[in-house]
Amino acid sequence: MCGITGAVGLKDISNQLFEGIRNLEYRGYDSCGVALMSGKRAIVVKKNVGYVDDVYKKENVLQHQGHTGIAHTRWATHGQVTKNNTHPFSSCDKKFAVVHNGIISNYQALRKQLKAEGHKFISDTDTEVVPHLLEKFYQETGSVEAAFVNTLRQLEGSYAIAFISIHQPDQIFCARRESPLLLGIDDEVKYVGSDFNAFIDHTKNAVIMDDDEYAIVSRDAYVVKSTVTQEVVAKPVTRIEWDSETTRKGGYPHYMLKEIYEQPQTINNALDVDEKKMDEFVDLLDKKATAQLVGVGTTFYVTMYANYIFSQISGKYIPAISSDEFVSLSPVDGDSFVLAISQSGETYDTISALKHAKAQGAATGAIVNVMGSTISRLVDKTILQGSGPEICVISTKAALAQMVILTHMALKLGLRRKRITQRQYKASLKSLHDLPEVINGILNERSGFIHRIAHQHRNVKNWLYLGRGIYYPIALESALKMKEVAYVHAEGMPCGFLKHGTLAMIDDDVYSIVFIPPKSDKAMYQATLASVAEIRARSGFVLGIHFDERGKDKELFSEELIIPQVPDIVAPFIHLVISQLLAYFTATSLKRNVDKPRSLAKSVTVG
Ligand code: F6R
Repeated sequence: MCGITGAVGLKDISNQLFEGIRNLEYRGYDSCGVALMSGKRAIVVKKNVGYVDDVYKKENVLQHQGHTGIAHTRWATHGQVTKNNTHPFSSCDKKFAVVHNGIISNYQALRKQLKAEGHKFISDTDTEVVPHLLEKFYQETGSVEAAFVNTLRQLEGSYAIAFISIHQPDQIFCARRESPLLLGIDDEVKYVGSDFNAFIDHTKNAVIMDDDEYAIVSRDAYVVKSTVTQEVVAKPVTRIEWDSETTRKGGYPHYMLKEIYEQPQTINNALDVDEKKMDEFVDLLDKKATAQLVGVGTTFYVTMYANYIFSQISGKYIPAISSDEFVSLSPVDGDSFVLAISQSGETYDTISALKHAKAQGAATGAIVNVMGSTISRLVDKTILQGSGPEICVISTKAALAQMVILTHMALKLGLRRKRITQRQYKASLKSLHDLPEVINGILNERSGFIHRIAHQHRNVKNWLYLGRGIYYPIALESALKMKEVAYVHAEGMPCGFLKHGTLAMIDDDVYSIVFIPPKSDKAMYQATLASVAEIRARSGFVLGIHFDERGKDKELFSEELIIPQVPDIVAPFIHLVISQLLAYFTATSLKRNVDKPRSLAKSVTVG
């Protein structure tokens, strides 16, 4: 969603602000803006539509210096992508400049009232009520802090807000409710940011703000208070484990490719997660009468994958529910366990699902990648997946790591429920430990072929991704990768659907990719090949991805990608990695903006 950052120091902080907002660009990149001030001199506001680098160039932002500043990169929700709708927003007297992430749901009523009182608005955004409220309450109270608290008490909805004011030039004021916000604590400079990336180049010490807290941040001190009581809240300083080097591209042309290549390492990290924590999750999955998996987008497909793997290995049916549908769909009570999956730990829909589950008395757990994130603090139990920062808006390594953890969990549950033997458990775990090596092989030896296929078929308008059983969620996730990074229409579906309607679509314009399972599952293998034959009988193009090293009947596939034999349990991972590469190379052949696809943002913190 949007990214906000701020910095306050003794010297000019404009460069830190630039780096910070650039690092947050993956949260939204429709437009960007900055507000800077030094002492009691006027606040300089520079903003425009476009990426951070372009706006900085267009607006000559780095010509301006300041000791205190805030910046914002926008993913539009209320109001179109225009310069006027770009943050920061100023009060009429230009003495306040405000940035905001979230949605102020009662902004229309507030705006009407402020207009009636003579305030002039320049944008269509919900945010713009904030500087006007600050101005109004400052006139009434003569105190910036009192004006801020009064303003916050007027706001409904979600927000992470930061502002600067001429009235207190060496401070940043900020507050949070349901949108992430952190402080970065360095000796000389203090920072504000939507996530660690805002200041990770400068400090690894962070204070994680909670809902209904506000902070006043100066270069050498900060204080956090409750918005409700105005009492000081003692906050621990959290040490960030990620290092700033891992947030760089490291020689790869795009973060997406870097993150795909990091997967062998992220699998190792995923297999290293705290065993005790895993066992606590397994306990709850075993003992609670019902359990549900929630996630949205890619993480919903991860939960669908988990639904299959838990059924197959542990015999426990654990439905997967898309977070945005959870409240309407899922009956939960005190005897339920709701397990959420989220890379960012900040996804609004998943947070809402968890809040609903908690309100019904359900036990909650989460697998998340970002330490200190809202979800990690909301649930009863958290597993940190340890995948390191995922900067590309498209999720790759984080999703794969989640699948590994869930597979490991299913094995543990299977063992506990005596669905598998100790020997089977050990053998499967060994296969997971061998997976990084296999993926390295695919990345090194097959990426050339995948690149060629992607380039050759870059103008295909429709891809069908087909798989049976556990390969069905892989088909869905693979199609999502193609859609979001290459903007090419792609649909994932179970092979079984073909003859119930989809076969009517097969013609020269529809290309299919079929995920063939290893031969060891004979029934599924043959049923999948039968689906391939159904498409080929209608002259449809099929790229078959299979593990049959001797190759197949040349007539069966239009193109085939042969992968060395692997144990069944890891085969879905291989198909997924190949699909990630196919989507990536299609996108680069079509010259798409790989790391920041149009209209998307990394963490979707609004509903
Ligand atoms: C797609 C993608 C999104 C996210 C979804 C949930 O590549 O990244 O579909 O999976 O927005 O995000 P998290 O996992 O952060 O809750």
